[in-house]
Amino acid sequence: MKKTLSALLAAALLSSPAAAQDPILIGVIGSLTGAEATYGLSTRHGVELAIEELNSKGGLKGRMFAAKVYDDQGKPEEAATATTRLVSQDKVAIVLGEVASSRSLAMAPIAEANKVPMITPSSTNPRVTKDGGKVRQWVFRVCFIDPFQGTVMAKWARESLKLERVAILRDVGNDYSMGLSDFFTAKFKELGGTILADESYKAGDQDFKAQLTSLKGKKPQAIYTPGYYTDVALIARQARELNMNMPLLGGDGWDSSKLYEIGGSALDGYYFSNHYSTDDPSPAIQNFIKTYKAKYKETPDALAALAYDAMLITADAMGRATAPTGEPLRKAIAATKGFKGVTGVITLDADHNAVKPAVILKITGKKPGYAGTIKP
Ligand code: PHE
Repeated sequence: MKKTLSALLAAALLSSPAAAQDPILIGVIGSLTGAEATYGLSTRHGVELAIEELNSKGGLKGRMFAAKVYDDQGKPEEAATATTRLVSQDKVAIVLGEVASSRSLAMAPIAEANKVPMITPSSTNPRVTKDGGKVRQWVFRVCFIDPFQGTVMAKWARESLKLERVAILRDVGNDYSMGLSDFFTAKFKELGGTILADESYKAGDQDFKAQLTSLKGKKPQAIYTPGYYTDVALIARQARELNMNMPLLGGDGWDSSKLYEIGGSALDGYYFSNHYSTDDPSPAIQNFIKTYKAKYKETPDALAALAYDAMLITADAMGRATAPTGEPLRKAIAATKGFKGVTGVITLDADHNAVKPAVILKITGKKPGYAGTIKP
């Protein structure tokens, strides 16, 4: 935040009065600290890289972009407060965020009430963009949604891994985990599989042995646990300690370098669904990985790629809109079609969601490797 402010000041001082034009402010909210810190940090990096590239090409018709970033510490209340601050104090043109669906759900009504567009790069719960059958006019996302993501892993489990009996371990305080568990369950049953048991935990729990022991007794062939990386890494380690060697299966919430740092080799052989694979040879992906690595000295996860896409789509919509804010911007975002992003070709549907394929990644040697693609 400090850096952004000083950059703004420097830009203001340098430009001649005639050319002086305020930058277009982009609000960013993420968990920059806490048990989900890599989500927010990757998101921030993705947005800032996109802004740097856009500005080096002249910004929006000569006007620069600047990011205003807030840390919500992984708390929905903080995400809501930050949204209010961005729209009423900082007067941003748009809000980018959050990653976690529960936090985007806390932000969405505020964006809606203040008529400021919000794009979540990576929240997949359907209610983020559509609440009680009504599309939120000001809220969009550049990723797929969980009714699809749940189907993806159910198909992989039934058709590729040929599993018949699976158990669930879900995070009850997490809208994403709850939704995805339900969508997986429905599809897995529809495909003829059986859900043997459904256990739960709460984010931040340290001991999962009671639930795991109970699941072990049911002898599932796999356990679907669509949670966030810190919890999942501990679950994986404790499952191995209990000599449970059936694979764990998960969703995009597993995607973090910290998963491997905390979970180590306990994760070997496990699968999760995600938005992109760094193994993909497509030039769009490989070029992105190269520039991102050069700047941040790490491989971009899906969150970084989605945040980068969200910022490029923002700039693209601003370029098509009669004004880079408010209703013109809202309309231009809604009209996004065939945008070639790093995470795929992005067209927003009537519900403001992107319809894109998902990849299945298999973990070996502390690395997620490409295992397959499932199309919508
Ligand atoms: N889809 C998750 C959610 O809605 C967030 C997430 C996306 C986490 C991508 C990691 C990678 O809560």
